[in-house]
Amino acid sequence: MQNLKSQFLLREDITFLNFGSFGACPKPVFERYQQYQLELEQEPVNFVTSKALKYLDHSREALGNYVNCHKNDLVYVTNPSYAVNTIAKNFDLKEGDEVLTTDLEYGACDKTWDYYCRKAKAKYVRQPIPLPIESKEHFFEAFFKGLTAKTKLIFISHITSTTGLRFPVEEICAIAKEKGILTFVDGAHAPGHILLDLQTLNADFYTGACHKWMMTPKGSSFLYVRKELQSTVDPLIISWGYNAMFPSDSQFIDYHQMNGSRDLSAFLSIPAAINFMQEHDWKTVAASCRNLVQENIEPFCKLLGASPLSPLNDDFNLQLFSAEIKTTEPEQLHDLFFEKYKIQIPVMRHGDKVYLRYSINAFNDQGDMDKLFAAIKDIKNNTAFIN
Ligand SMILES: Cc1ncc(COP(=O)(O)O)c(C=O)c1O
Repeated sequence: MQNLKSQFLLREDITFLNFGSFGACPKPVFERYQQYQLELEQEPVNFVTSKALKYLDHSREALGNYVNCHKNDLVYVTNPSYAVNTIAKNFDLKEGDEVLTTDLEYGACDKTWDYYCRKAKAKYVRQPIPLPIESKEHFFEAFFKGLTAKTKLIFISHITSTTGLRFPVEEICAIAKEKGILTFVDGAHAPGHILLDLQTLNADFYTGACHKWMMTPKGSSFLYVRKELQSTVDPLIISWGYNAMFPSDSQFIDYHQMNGSRDLSAFLSIPAAINFMQEHDWKTVAASCRNLVQENIEPFCKLLGASPLSPLNDDFNLQLFSAEIKTTEPEQLHDLFFEKYKIQIPVMRHGDKVYLRYSINAFNDQGDMDKLFAAIKDIKNNTAFIN
């Protein structure tokens, strides 16, 4: 696999196996980001009141082409939590309505829906997904048990956080559409990780983080809303875009894009990240990364005494792999990996279980996984952190 380590800013002394949490920005993309920041500081007024709007338009156009949707159907937000809060706060939930999700969602988004459902006296249904998942059919059978005549919205991850599993959201969106239920896909891990085609997916709402697998600077994500629903979604911040003095051709963009003074440079760097992926043939890079993930599953699970959480193929596993780890001290174990072995890897609680998750991207190689395996063996032999 083409190793692109020299293209990244990551510290040489750290084995970085946690791309999933906050990505990592390649040097040319980071340089473009800093150029925007410099341009802003050199003439802030002209930048904010004139140039930035054109740059934003260009950036949304590039991202729209990349994820296949119109540039006016997506707005930039700092992170997926912001997008989820925007939709949850606006969603017209009535007493007795239901929002269907799984029990494997990302904690912050799960809390958001829990909060707004409670507030509206609606029911938030965290449908249990039995692990291991045996097949897509097995997944659908478990998930749709939670569907009732009161279900108004399905909220579901495209790729889950703690378990690192890709969910079959294409089929879920299609089934929901047939039944007249709205869908919101949490694609925090999807852009840059899998080929994303929002028109084909046909979800009603979608959020993706650009600063994870698309490798843009931190604080760059997007919220997509299907055109017919855009008028139902108010921004979290009311600003100059409301009753805009010089409206653009999209009220949705005016409402959500003007958000008070802030640094837009991370959003503006998105075209540079798309160029970087194209220049480095990311399709091939991603395929090599998936191979490395797959090749290491068996020894990883064996060392942890764990079983895979799903069938081992691209339907469920991509550049993330999680397995259950038997530990009572996940936070201390994470710190031990980092401080003693210089390995950055998440040890994550989910419900009553703990998962160890590795991520592979362009700068990783087998040597990184070998270091992880050696560290796990050493910890097992010399401490009580892993049972
Ligand atoms: C599946 C999933 N959804 C949403 C998020 C939210 O990210 P943030 O906390 O940046 O809003 C994450 C972050 O890792 C995630 O993994």
